[in-house]
Amino acid sequence: MFGTGSRRTPDPGPAPEALRLVKVSRIYGTDDSAVTALDGVTLTLGRGTFTAVMGPSGSGKSTLLQCAAGLDRPDSGIVRVDGTELTGGSEAELTRFRRGRIGFVFQQYNLLDTLTVAQNTVLPLKLAGQRVDRGRTREVLTSVGLGDRLGHRPDQLSGGQRQRVAIARALVTEPRVIFADEPTGALDTRSARGVLRLLQDAVKVHGRTVVMVTHDPFAASFADAVLFLADGRLAGRMDGPTPDAVAERLAHLGDDMTTGV
Ligand SMILES: Nc1ncnc2c1ncn2[C@@H]1O[C@H](COP(=O)(O)OP(=O)(O)OP(=O)(O)O)[C@@H](O)[C@H]1O
Ligand SMILES: [Mg+2]
Repeated sequence: MFGTGSRRTPDPGPAPEALRLVKVSRIYGTDDSAVTALDGVTLTLGRGTFTAVMGPSGSGKSTLLQCAAGLDRPDSGIVRVDGTELTGGSEAELTRFRRGRIGFVFQQYNLLDTLTVAQNTVLPLKLAGQRVDRGRTREVLTSVGLGDRLGHRPDQLSGGQRQRVAIARALVTEPRVIFADEPTGALDTRSARGVLRLLQDAVKVHGRTVVMVTHDPFAASFADAVLFLADGRLAGRMDGPTPDAVAERLAHLGDDMTTGV
């Protein structure tokens, strides 16, 4: 539960882990049409780590991220982010927690075209009812290389620049954990590298925790470790991933998936 009995305590202090899932399951639909997207996933990620999540299409990667970020609720199991249990609280508590502690980056940016770069970036602060400091806006946009684009609209930017705005928006609340679902999926190699370096810096320089879904072994090699998913279950882990080693493991995951079919 939120705050486990001491909900008004401002900060429970350092948590031993950034993310913990215990036997998390998510089933979409019912009866004949039921799909087990996540099947009893248990994992722990330490603070200040950068983890990639990989696996075949439909293996449950996005579902895992959505459940871990409090954007979706598992049917069973426990999710703890930064020491706070997400499962079990009210919708309002969950929303408040998510806005303060969690950042999310989507493949398709999810920027509002009617707002400027600066306005998009500070939207999470506005939604949380916080005062918006112009200096802070400029600082966070400068950190993603867009300090000179504050007044532009998203449709005046390249894909890579748009994704950097989305990252600035995810960083502006100084969240403990940042979830990114295929953040480089729509980008060319050069733009992808820029985005991956930003995520890496969020971990190395600012001590945040990043969990990133990707299909790309090159993108995964920026992470400290890769978790492999198959059929809604964890199917392995690789520390210190290299693009070649990741591609090799993915190929074997594919073999496993077709075994017995
Ligand atoms: N809202 C939904 N309603 C019904 N089934 C869903 C829903 N969302 C996901 N699923 C199913 O759950 C399973 C896992 O989906 P998920 O989107 O998590 O996979 P993924 O690993 O992210 O795939 P991809 O690599 O294609 O993005 C799939 O079989 C999918 O069809
Ligand atoms: Mg997905």
